[in-house]
Amino acid sequence: MSSSDQPAAPFAGRLNAIYTGSMLTNMLDLGYRTGLLEAAGQGPATSAELAERAGLNERYVREWLGAMATGGIFTFEPESRRYTLPEDHAAALTGDDAANLAPFSRILNHFVKHLAKLETCFRDGGGVPYEDYWPEFTEFASDVWRRVFDQHLIDGFLGVVPGLGARLEQGLDVLDIGCGDGHAVNVMARAYPASRFAGYDFSDAAIAGARAEAEAMALANARFEKVDVTTLAPEPRFDLITAFDSIHDQFEPETVLAGIRSALRPEGMFLMIDFKFSSDVGHNIGNPFAPLAYGISVMHCMTVSLAGGGPGLGTVWGLETAQRMLAEAGFADVTVIDSPRPQNCIYLCRP
Ligand SMILES: C[S@@+](CC[C@H](N)C(=O)[O-])C[C@H]1O[C@@H](n2cnc3c(N)ncnc32)[C@H](O)[C@@H]1O
Repeated sequence: MSSSDQPAAPFAGRLNAIYTGSMLTNMLDLGYRTGLLEAAGQGPATSAELAERAGLNERYVREWLGAMATGGIFTFEPESRRYTLPEDHAAALTGDDAANLAPFSRILNHFVKHLAKLETCFRDGGGVPYEDYWPEFTEFASDVWRRVFDQHLIDGFLGVVPGLGARLEQGLDVLDIGCGDGHAVNVMARAYPASRFAGYDFSDAAIAGARAEAEAMALANARFEKVDVTTLAPEPRFDLITAFDSIHDQFEPETVLAGIRSALRPEGMFLMIDFKFSSDVGHNIGNPFAPLAYGISVMHCMTVSLAGGGPGLGTVWGLETAQRMLAEAGFADVTVIDSPRPQNCIYLCRP
């Protein structure tokens, strides 16, 4: 080995870990889709026992368990040939709440479908349009976010704003911008029956899903409209406008923010839940969420905006840019509050 090989060796090891992580993401996605993770959460099993429990082919299950055990996700007991998903790993990979991170693997794998188009964008500019991501992206993203809304929306995101819960109990007009398949709106409408909720999105499939869920939940105070929020009208006005992860990928974010400001009543407020990063990459070095966020930006948030001729703010547009743009849109008072999820923050904006 020449001396010039020395620094490369540790990095080659790190690359192996990076590629292993990518492959284990595929395996977790398969485990989530097939129900293997939930089945494994029931207790130790041989490959045959687990295959039977999940109703799957033993040969595939055994190979998958090989990746899980050597990847440190399961433990393996050579005597009994049993594989175990440890309790703390099961807490992060099974169940219906936001602690289950397995659904996130589906989003990451869905992005890979667009690599060839992104390669073209790297050469020629432009972007991959929203329509190319529908309907899977809406479904997979909702699978992650609906758990977050179930667990954190009422107490975590709304509850940290002084007095807001009491006002919602009395009755407010609320609009959610880029509502996706509407789960946030429906959860709020169920919690605050005296308030009236609207959700706007420009995806037909998302609006259809939102309406179906509102009907299934028998909510009389939630309505959903197909609206391009760049054309938000100043009437009707709202007491509260929310945006969950839906500003930084806009084609015309300045227009949308100004429209939100105009559609608020004088005592109204805009609550924007977004990602908590600096706008300066130098300040994001060492942030464990940052590489994933920049990658998600390339593979979705930035490219969908660029596809529509937008600025491509991206997932990591950051606190400084967001605060500047909110001020330029006419919000006189912007407070940034920590969110129950460390990767997000809450912008509390008043006209
Ligand atoms: C990242 S998703 C967030 C969805 C939802 N707020 C959630 O947290 O689950 C962004 C949403 O904004 C919608 N969207 C983006 N630009 C829009 C526009 N100009 N008008 C209406 N909806 C838009 C997309 O269709 C998508 O559903």
